[in-house]
Amino acid sequence: MRNKGLMVSMLLLTMGMVATLLLTGCNATNPKDNNSEVVERVDEMTPTDDSLVVIGVSQVGSESVWRTANTNSIQETFTTENGYFLIFNNARQKQENQIKAIRGFISQKVDYIVLSPITEEGWDTVLQEAKDAEIPVILFDRKLKVDDPSLYTTWVGSDFHLEGRKAGAWLETYLARNSKNDANIVVLKGTEGSTAEVGRTAGFLEIAQSHTAWKVLAEVDAEYTTTKGKEVMKKLLQDYPELDVVVAQNDDMMFGAIEALHEAGKTTGEGGDVVVISFDACKMALNMIKDGSLNVDVECNPLQGEYIEGIIKDLEEEKYVNRETYIEEMVFDSTNIDEYIENRTY
Ligand code: AHR
Repeated sequence: MRNKGLMVSMLLLTMGMVATLLLTGCNATNPKDNNSEVVERVDEMTPTDDSLVVIGVSQVGSESVWRTANTNSIQETFTTENGYFLIFNNARQKQENQIKAIRGFISQKVDYIVLSPITEEGWDTVLQEAKDAEIPVILFDRKLKVDDPSLYTTWVGSDFHLEGRKAGAWLETYLARNSKNDANIVVLKGTEGSTAEVGRTAGFLEIAQSHTAWKVLAEVDAEYTTTKGKEVMKKLLQDYPELDVVVAQNDDMMFGAIEALHEAGKTTGEGGDVVVISFDACKMALNMIKDGSLNVDVECNPLQGEYIEGIIKDLEEEKYVNRETYIEEMVFDSTNIDEYIENRTY
């Protein structure tokens, strides 16, 4: 009778574990893993080697080339060979999925939670749960706003506000070089409320507002994707036929926007009808600077795995870590593209 009870308990426990995994979409990964094989990999959710540092990563999604490079950098860093057991969750651009994943990490008692928050608000409750469980939270890429700053340990990523200013400063120089004063600008924004969108918008507008002859005709959310970028650009061309500058807040939206512009018979890039400014600087976009269809790309560096690992190593050794770490980034246009294009890996 006792044995039967034990068997029932074990069955319920196993069913519970499978359900949790299905709900959270969590998966142990290495670069070669297929993230969809959730149930088959249940046995691998618990590290067999106690010396491995267990990391739960909640990633925003796979919305862009940048994001894929960012995920690869993390998965290539946190391998068992390097001493880690990685539980990776792709939130598919939904905050509720990130919250579920974090709760999963807490119940799995990971050593560190590593999070790129989709948007900045709404994290207090779940991060308090992580703090109560004494699990340090490391933020990467995007930031978040919480009432209690001790709810996360540190952040590493890009200075998005500076990126926006760099885009504005580049346009100032470009217009001066072409003896132009005025600009009719449209902005394709990334996910509303994400740190990258907030920073790039504010930084660019700071420069734009200092020029009375620059008109920002519209700022529209195109969600960081090519499909949306194209759709939004088509509409903007109908509403603002006079536009002559497009600021796309990432490469993927820029790909869609340029497609729409070309389909409408507009030329882009150096000497074209429309000046196009982009962010991220992935290889495909750098090739477009080289072939002349894109004017400029403000770099956003996705190779953040080694930075996060550096932080974890310091925390493991109980060393002090900075509250924020900014990654150095560049601006690419026709003047320097030849020097950098070959070495771009993503
Ligand atoms: O948060 C970084 C931004 O998110 C990148 O610019 C974009 O491509 C990604 O989706």
